[in-house]
Amino acid sequence: MATKAARPSRLKAVQTGETLERAHERPVHGPCTFVIFGGTGDLSRRKILPALSRLRHEELIDDDTTVVAVARDTGMDDRAFRDVVRQAVEDDGMDPREIDHWVETTVFYQGIGKGTPEDFKGIATRIAQLEKERGQPPNRVFYLALPPSAFPSTIQGLGEAGLSRGVTGPGNGTKYWTRLVIEKPFGRDLQSAEALNQLIHKYFDESQVYRIDHYLGKETVQNLLVFRFANSVFESLWNRNHVESVQVTVGEELGVEGRAAYYEQAGAVRDILQNHGIQLVILVAMEVPAMMTADFIRQEKVKALRSIKAITAKNVVLGQYAHGEIDGQAIPGYREEPGVAPNSRTETFAAIKLEIDSWRWQGVPFYLRTGKRMKKRLTEIVVKFRRPPVWMFTPLGSPELHRNTLRLTIQPDEGFALYFHVKAPGKPLRLERLPLDFFYKERFEELPEAYQTLLLDVVDGDQTLFVHADEVEAAWRLFTPILDNTLAVSFYAAGSWGPKESDELMQRNGQKWSNERKKD
Ligand code: BG6
Repeated sequence: MATKAARPSRLKAVQTGETLERAHERPVHGPCTFVIFGGTGDLSRRKILPALSRLRHEELIDDDTTVVAVARDTGMDDRAFRDVVRQAVEDDGMDPREIDHWVETTVFYQGIGKGTPEDFKGIATRIAQLEKERGQPPNRVFYLALPPSAFPSTIQGLGEAGLSRGVTGPGNGTKYWTRLVIEKPFGRDLQSAEALNQLIHKYFDESQVYRIDHYLGKETVQNLLVFRFANSVFESLWNRNHVESVQVTVGEELGVEGRAAYYEQAGAVRDILQNHGIQLVILVAMEVPAMMTADFIRQEKVKALRSIKAITAKNVVLGQYAHGEIDGQAIPGYREEPGVAPNSRTETFAAIKLEIDSWRWQGVPFYLRTGKRMKKRLTEIVVKFRRPPVWMFTPLGSPELHRNTLRLTIQPDEGFALYFHVKAPGKPLRLERLPLDFFYKERFEELPEAYQTLLLDVVDGDQTLFVHADEVEAAWRLFTPILDNTLAVSFYAAGSWGPKESDELMQRNGQKWSNERKKD
C-alpha cells in the first residue's frame, strides 16, 4: 500500500500528560549507528529496512542515522546493499526516490565472514571508522535479525570485541549508549531462555536489552493500557465482581507460508501463545502500575504472569489443520505443506484455559487460543460481564439472557464494541443487544506498522514495549510443562475455528467461543 503511514503515537505522551500532537513535534534524537546482523535477510527486507526508511522519511529519526548491514553474503558491498534497501522500500509501497539521498550517503554493508573474533574486530573497526568519518557520536544499536541458533555466537562476538558496553567519551566522560535488539523466538523452553539471558547479562546490562514482541508495537495493543487506565468507567468493572470470563483469540487465515522448517520445531504454543498471546492476557490482567514507565509496567506484567496457575492437561487442546477451504479456496492440510513431515505432530492450533490466582481475578477463567488456517484473521479480546442477578423480562416475553460484552479488536477491524441491551420500539416487549462501538479507521489515519513504533522506541531508549528477562522466563515457566509432546493433537478442517475439542473445552465450562459478531 502506497499510503503514508501515520506518525506513531507515543505512550510517553500519556506518561507526561503531553498531547499526542505535541509528542509528534518533539525534536528527533541525535544520530546513531544502527547495525543489523542478518541485514540482508528476510526480516530485514520485509520489516526493518522499510520501518527505518519510513521513520527517516517522516523525520522521526535523525537524517544522519547510519545503517550498517552485517551479513555473510558473498558479492555484497555498500552499493549492492543500497539496492537491497531501495527494493525493500519499494516493495513496502514507498517511492525509493524519496529517501535516495539518505540511502546513498548513510547505508553501508559489512561482511562477517565465519564470525571469528577477528571478524567482530573488523566490524568494530568499521563502525568506529564510519563514526569518525561522519562525525557522529558512538551511539549504537545492534539488531539481531538472525535465526535463534546464531544469537549466542553473535552476542558473545559483540561482547568479546568490546562492543557491548557504551563508549565513554574523553574529557567530560560522556557515556554514549549501546543497545541490543533481539527478535523472537527467545529460547524454546525455560532452560534455553535462562541460558540465553545469562549469556546476554554476561556482556550487556538489562537496561540495554530490547526483546521484541511485535504485538506490543501494535497501536491497538498499546491502547489497552490507555483504555484501562484512562477510563475509570471500565477500570472499576475490571475485576471478579463484574467480569465472568475473558477470551483472547489470535486467529490467522494464513498457514506456515514457506516457514515449515521453523514451524515444525515451534508449533502454535511456542510461536504465538508464549509471546503474543500471553502478552495480551497479562495486559488485560495486570494491576495498575504506579506510573506509566517501563519499569513499573513491566513489574506489573511479571506479577500478573506469576499469578497464573500451572496449566493442567485437561485445560489444553492442541490441534493441527487438515485440508479444508477458506473463502472458496481449497487448502491443503498441514502435513501436505512443503517441508512438513507426513506424520508431523506439530500443533497449529492451541486453546488453553488459564486461571489467575489474584485478588482481582480469582475464579475468572481466561481462555486463550490461537490457530493457523482458521476461518478468518481475527485477533480479539472479549470480556464477558456477569449476567444481571435477576432477569425480570421473561414474563414480559423476553427470555433471552445475554451478558454485556466488550470486544477489543486488535486486528483486522481495530477498535472496540461494548454490547448493551436496548428495548426495540413497540409491543410486545423485545430486547435487542446492540454495540456501542469505535473503529480506528473511522477516526484516525492509517495505523503505523508495529516495527516503526518499536524501532523508534529503541532509538529513544524507551523499553516500555519490550519484554524484560523476567517476563520471558515467567512465560516459559508457564508453557514449558505442556511442551513435552505427550498431549493429543486433534485435527480440524482448514477454514474452521479449530477442533471440536476446543468447543468442548468451553462447553465443559459453560462457555462458548465468540467467533463472529452476529452469533453473540
Ligand atoms: C509471528 C509468528 O510472530 O506472528 C507468525 O511467528 C505469525 O507465525 C505472526 O503469522 C502474526 O503476526 P500478525 O502481526 O500478522 O498478527
